[in-house]
Amino acid sequence: MRLLIQSDYEKMSTWTANYIAAAINRITKERICVLGLPTGSSPLGTYRELIRLHQEGKVSFKKVVTFNMDEYIGIPQEHPESYYSFMWNNFFSHIDIPREQVNILNGNAADLKAECAAYEEKIKNCGGIDLFLGGIGPDGHIAFNEPGSSLSSRTRVENLTYDTILANSRFFDNDMALVPKKALTVGVATVLDAREVVIVVNGHSKARALRHAVEEGVNHMWTISALQLHPNGMIVCDEAACHELKVGTYKHFKDIEQENLL
Ligand code: GLP
Repeated sequence: MRLLIQSDYEKMSTWTANYIAAAINRITKERICVLGLPTGSSPLGTYRELIRLHQEGKVSFKKVVTFNMDEYIGIPQEHPESYYSFMWNNFFSHIDIPREQVNILNGNAADLKAECAAYEEKIKNCGGIDLFLGGIGPDGHIAFNEPGSSLSSRTRVENLTYDTILANSRFFDNDMALVPKKALTVGVATVLDAREVVIVVNGHSKARALRHAVEEGVNHMWTISALQLHPNGMIVCDEAACHELKVGTYKHFKDIEQENLL
């Protein structure tokens, strides 16, 4: 697993956006490019930079197909905090991706199990995901794969933990009662199936999770740690997120990635 320690959130975002744009340009020369995408505050800067690169004519999303990681169950699609709204407001409306190439799980589907199975099937039929971008929760969850999720899990319904509901209540008037208690999420194995996985981690509140991801063993209580099993996994973080890493770990990754640090 690679760990790129950029000095701050802006540099983390700029570097990641440039990396993704280069991957899109490389792949779309020959075929469609399939991206897995997250919501959350962590990737917002990356989306902003990708929009800028698009506006400057440096990347087009016409041959890009996307699959989002997760979606709440029980709030309407048009709710301002649905992941559908998040993605259209913060990213898709500002780029040239054809609407029919965007895939987001439907948390209001009549048959949620069938919705999850169809999503896995559609990913397969598109040839698999080329690059999965992600963030993590303070408890190290990836997508909505809460602590204790099987590392071979697939797209499914997940109950959200107290920690996640508390963290996400900031988007629901700080009222935990308003936060959905369930969500649809791709599984850990769905993420690991991607040809490449890039995770952005910023801020002090993620320091403990980053330590578990990088220095501790693979463990279902910190589902991000499964990235250690991926042949092409990378975490791009900022300095604040490194607060709990050993000095030796920090220096090692700074040293071997020095050419890739902005
Ligand atoms: C939610 C999402 C995750 C995201 C996490 C962290 O739980 N399901 O995909 O990584 O929030 O969000 P943030 O980036 O806002 O800290």
